[in-house]
Amino acid sequence: MALKIIDHGTKEYFQMVNLRNEILRKPLGLDFDTAELDREKDDVLIGAFEEDKLIGCCLITRMDSNTCRLRQMAVPSKLQHKGIGASLVSFAENVARDLGYKTMSMHARKTAIGFYEKFGYHVSGDEFEEVTIPHYIMLKRLR
Ligand SMILES: CC(C)(COP(=O)(O)OP(=O)(O)OC[C@H]1O[C@@H](n2cnc3c(N)ncnc32)[C@H](O)[C@@H]1OP(=O)(O)O)[C@@H](O)C(=O)NCCC(=O)NCCS
Repeated sequence: MALKIIDHGTKEYFQMVNLRNEILRKPLGLDFDTAELDREKDDVLIGAFEEDKLIGCCLITRMDSNTCRLRQMAVPSKLQHKGIGASLVSFAENVARDLGYKTMSMHARKTAIGFYEKFGYHVSGDEFEEVTIPHYIMLKRLR
């Protein structure tokens, strides 16, 4: 598996949008709109690849000079529980550290809290709804 940063608007980027759509949006009856994808131009877009095939993704969005947000973590259903998500989290944290961020935050789906807790993230605050389902803010200090 190779982990790499993807450029917005490339073939790899559209592979990533398709994967995110399949895993994160379609099951909720939702889709992406152009404005939402345009806002990702300044994000760090991360893909896990097996040769040319995208097998996982996530992205990092700047919140302020100290804090960034881990977003849109997705692994194809058939490839889940094989360590791809763990590799993506670790790679994203290293990229964030290199960029000088001190804290990683996220809006985690309730169903994924146990996954992020394995990497030292903790829940902060109350449950809220996003994309129709329950979420929690989770935080981790990057060392
Ligand atoms: C959540 C997700 C990204 C995890 O990726 P993955 O490649 O399946 O995870 P890994 O195989 O690296 O798992 C690492 C560890 O977390 C555990 N884990 C994986 N998903 C979990 C979950 N939803 N809840 C609790 N633990 C989980 C694994 O069992 C493994 O534990 P182990 O190290 O003790 O064996 C992936 O399952 C996914 O895309 N889910 C659907 C979309 C989603 O919920 N995205 C997150 C939105 S916030």
